[in-house]
Amino acid sequence: MQLVLASGNSGKIREFKQLLGDELKAFSELIAPFEITEDADSFAGNALLKARAIYERLGEEYLVISDDSGITVPLLGGEPGIYSARYAGEGATARQNLEKLITEVGRLTARTPAYYTAAIAIVSKYGEYVVHGWMYGEVISEARGDQGFGYDPSFIPEGYTQTLAELGDEVKAEISHRHKALALAKPIIEMLRHK
Ligand code: IMP
Repeated sequence: MQLVLASGNSGKIREFKQLLGDELKAFSELIAPFEITEDADSFAGNALLKARAIYERLGEEYLVISDDSGITVPLLGGEPGIYSARYAGEGATARQNLEKLITEVGRLTARTPAYYTAAIAIVSKYGEYVVHGWMYGEVISEARGDQGFGYDPSFIPEGYTQTLAELGDEVKAEISHRHKALALAKPIIEMLRHK
């Protein structure tokens, strides 16, 4: 069974290949990209929507993996949550989204609890699975550091004093929501592909 990742994001493709091997293909290597409306009300729902849409186009010989992720700030009523990629509006850049978060948090406090969520969906002829990973910490009302991406310059993981953008990829790989979810997804994928 061919493993396919339902993402065209090169950062995600690299992270998934590290764990699952080079036989994993991005769906854009197989079919032309098409619009998938992510209108579910949870990370898991949106991950499943993406994986199902691509599985339906590719067919039974494929095992499709997708992920959906974001950051949640309880003080902001759960924002940006599933809207993390478009917090500052449709088509907003990662920097604009980060600046909006800093502004909204800064109106209320200098730092507040927050967490990242990653949901990974797996769809194949044997059924559908979803696993999650979380990373807890705090969001601060300023940006520090230049590594990582997205909201990393304002996120301090639990047990650390620096932001993820200051800590860098090696530390992030050990503690991140995506890596925790991938570790759970891996045995399911191995089980399905050898069925
Ligand atoms: P997705 O590509 O639809 O899953 O959108 C995820 C969004 O959540 C990204 O645009 C980022 O803004 C945010 N996000 C998810 N994971 C991370 C992370 O590890 N660091 C920083 N931002 C993240």
